[in-house]
Amino acid sequence: MSEGLVQAAYIVAALLFIMSLAGLSKHETAKAGCWYGIVGMTIALIATIFGPHSEGTFWIIIAMIIGAVIGIHRALKVEMTEMPELVAILHSFVGLAAVLVGFNSFGLHADAVFVVPDGVEYVTESAQALLAQQKAAFDAEQAVLANIHNVEVFLGIFIGAVTFTGSVVAFGKLRGIINSKALMLPHRHKLNLAALVVSALLMVAFLQAPHNIFPLLLMTAIALAFGWHLVASIGGADMPVVVSMLNSYSGWAAAAAGFMLNNDLLIVTGALVGSSGAILSYIMCKAMNRSFVSVIAGGFGNDTVASSDDEQGEHRETTAEEVAELLKNASSVIITPGYGMAVAQAQYPVAEMTQKLRDRGVNVRFGIHPVAGRLPGHMNVLLAEAKVPYDVVLEMDEINDDFADTDVVLVIGANDTVNPAAMDDPNSPIAGMPVLEVWKAANVIVFKRSMAVGYAGVQNPLFFKENTQMLFGDAKERVDDILKALS
Ligand code: TAP
Repeated sequence: MSEGLVQAAYIVAALLFIMSLAGLSKHETAKAGCWYGIVGMTIALIATIFGPHSEGTFWIIIAMIIGAVIGIHRALKVEMTEMPELVAILHSFVGLAAVLVGFNSFGLHADAVFVVPDGVEYVTESAQALLAQQKAAFDAEQAVLANIHNVEVFLGIFIGAVTFTGSVVAFGKLRGIINSKALMLPHRHKLNLAALVVSALLMVAFLQAPHNIFPLLLMTAIALAFGWHLVASIGGADMPVVVSMLNSYSGWAAAAAGFMLNNDLLIVTGALVGSSGAILSYIMCKAMNRSFVSVIAGGFGNDTVASSDDEQGEHRETTAEEVAELLKNASSVIITPGYGMAVAQAQYPVAEMTQKLRDRGVNVRFGIHPVAGRLPGHMNVLLAEAKVPYDVVLEMDEINDDFADTDVVLVIGANDTVNPAAMDDPNSPIAGMPVLEVWKAANVIVFKRSMAVGYAGVQNPLFFKENTQMLFGDAKERVDDILKALS
């Protein structure tokens, strides 16, 4: 494939990626958005593999087949609740790839040799002087180009290493292998700052002696530890922001790899992912009332003392039959689903119960918290899957004022997103995060299996309020029981 054709294919692919992002921003066009992305990526891959600079095409194709088999297998097996974990681990691959590309590009900027133009006799003194001048200009340009290349290598490895370990920690936290509570090392902000300052000094050392790999290796070790610490020191409740932030970092890592490989499409694609991830992080921060800068700086300013996860009083238990009775006599009901509904796959009986109550004339609506579940829009997807009508599914801001006039709230597998400590306890790790104010309703029924804490690891005073009753057990089984009692 000629260079011109490759460049044309890259432009088409870049346009398709932009159309893909635009499509993904709305429900109605999301499917088309996915297809634009798939077609764009196919074009980009074909152009790169069969382009004029491609080498080892056979091995690339073999590697792609192995990768595709593993990827398809994982994607088919992954549960919806595990999606953020999958996304986090995929981000780590982008980071690792940037590190490997960086080390591979180290020292690859072979200094071009000045070639004396043919057919000209440099015999006179003025011609000799002109030649010397041309050579000096050429050498200066080469030095600048080599410096730029070395900066790209250094920054690419730095961003890639931070993204790699940060994503591995995010994966561990989301999977529950690593404690989701924020790691509070003494002087943690000073440690972060020191890592940045030392890395900057190492970059200066590297630029002065670009053939010495030692500063690069030391910076890589520091960046790996920095990425690890940055995400480890962010609490569980802020994980949604962390995942979108790492998404953004992975984009910048890809863009850095694009600079190192001199691949314009990779630069454009990386910048698109980097900036859209940054915008998503910003939107998430606003929804959760978090400072963007504080989250990207590893929870800077989030020095709250973790509240205890001890129980805070007596809780009352209820039965499915009693809840069914309460619902029969209610005129308004709000359901606030959370991660537990997804785990139990309770959306189908919940949809059936909603229909049954609506048929009886009960006003049933849903209140959706922006970070309920484990991925943006998680609850909306589950409810749409179970065919709950869109018009009764409301966002937190649309429904929060209505709880006071509501007879019954069913909290189905939600915990952090309905925790009053976010508003009442300034020392809580979730302090300031907007929550669904369910406790204002006349009756609150909490569906969960135990008195265990939610994802953020903090106890929920809602469970001990006068108007709250706990309905223990698997959410799907309990909703099925209510359905039986209703009919
Ligand atoms: P969580 O605070 O995670 O609580 C889920 C609750 O569901 C738990 O109390 C658990 O209690 C219960 N549960 C689990 N399995 C259940 C089952 N089979 N049947 C009944 N209950 C079950 O839920 P949330 O309110 O949705 O909050 C989401 C949290 O995840 C927030 O902290 C958020 O920041 C974080 N997060 C969100 C995202 C996004 S983008 N949405 C991404 C990463 C993290 P038991 O164990 O006692 O049953």
